[in-house]
Amino acid sequence: MTSKWAGRCESCGAWNTLSEEVARPAAAGGLGKAKRKGKGAELVGLAGESERDARLETGITEFDRVCGGGLVSGSALLVGGDPGIGKSTLLLQVAAAVARLGRSAVYISGEEAIAQIRMRGRRLNLSDAPVNLATTTDVREIVATLSTDPPPALAIIDSIQTMYIDTLESAPGTVGQVRASAQELIRIAKANGTAVILVGHVTKEGQIAGPRVLEHMVDTVLYFEGERGHQFRILRAVKNRFGASDEIGVFEMTDRGLSEVPNPSALFLANRAEQVSGAAVFAGIEGTRPVLLEIQALISPTSFSTPRRAVVGWDSGRLAMVLAVLEARCGVALAGKDVYLNVAGGLRIAEPAADLAVAAALLSSLADRPVPADTVVFGEIGLAGEVRMVSQADLRLKEAAKLGFTRAFIPGGLKQRQQSLDVREMQRLSDLVDHFSD
Ligand code: TYD
Ligand code: MG
Repeated sequence: MTSKWAGRCESCGAWNTLSEEVARPAAAGGLGKAKRKGKGAELVGLAGESERDARLETGITEFDRVCGGGLVSGSALLVGGDPGIGKSTLLLQVAAAVARLGRSAVYISGEEAIAQIRMRGRRLNLSDAPVNLATTTDVREIVATLSTDPPPALAIIDSIQTMYIDTLESAPGTVGQVRASAQELIRIAKANGTAVILVGHVTKEGQIAGPRVLEHMVDTVLYFEGERGHQFRILRAVKNRFGASDEIGVFEMTDRGLSEVPNPSALFLANRAEQVSGAAVFAGIEGTRPVLLEIQALISPTSFSTPRRAVVGWDSGRLAMVLAVLEARCGVALAGKDVYLNVAGGLRIAEPAADLAVAAALLSSLADRPVPADTVVFGEIGLAGEVRMVSQADLRLKEAAKLGFTRAFIPGGLKQRQQSLDVREMQRLSDLVDHFSD
């Protein structure tokens, strides 16, 4: 907030994003002199029954899991994603699934005409589902539409950036409009017990256009992501008051809409070349679910004065750290070499547990020796060159065994053993280096 004219937002640095809001003058005298005394809020016990616990399961398992086990009535959910990634497609499928369960679902579009939405519905084979469609951008009209008796179980607003409320002068899509519209829609969700899903476009910088505060206002924030060239899409919970954040759901975009991918590991490993150097399979955890992924590295002599370090799908700071530990603690010479790292399949890994798999891919590329066949790798690397145990090791190994892997390189100190796997414990990173040099 700023009280004088400014062309640039001081908190995010963006130009021409500020909009004027006229503050209502405070009641004369402020709180101190106010005549009216506040009424005390009713205090209740921690234990007790509340109706709001009921979950609305859509039957689209990947979607339900990311929501924490279905939609919560009276909650507000924000789905963000790049234009064209498939948000409208996914949410029309969600609306249709709810409608087919005999619950009332309303889909309100401010972006497309009825004919367009119907055409999409036909393509997705959803025409028989009793979804209620409307096209409007007027929040007052939407509030009236949602105030039926009984109120709808689900309302989808596509998108929040197109909505406007007439109490504000500014244009749709501005910070003030997005916030005021969302506030009103969230209020009606809470009042009526309707689960409201707001669609939000993402800017080039990867944030939901409009104020950051939108993410604070809603109960759940999901991002729908994917590489344009790849057919699969990932729905990721980044905030969830009713479930685990970091949970992912995996979908495949087909010519008949989004289909669920119940076993993502098989998909991510599908195009894996057998026995090439520079590739290691990482046994990761995404949310509550184990996911196996291939990490690829390429090390080549550099032709630049400063060697290149390029990373896709992982943290570049974390790569720099693994490279530094390899140099300083294990004597692996990497200066004068370009390093490229890629997580195959377009997924982004945030876990430090991938350190050891990254190191394995790097060492394998450097030695031009493949990681032994059917091996999974995980473990966190410390600055002293030690390999640390990570959470949920059992779950990672179980998933690996299920997918036919027979070996694992893991940190030392595992208590339970997965019977079917040949486990090799690494106490220090130098143990892994030795593996590739003898
Ligand atoms: P859309 O849901 O309109 O994206 P968003 O709402 O996030 O902007 O999806 C747009 C893309 O999805 C479009 O490029 C076409 C593609 N698509 C399919 O591949 N298959 C389908 O069945 C549908 C409906 C869309
Ligand atoms: Mg859309």
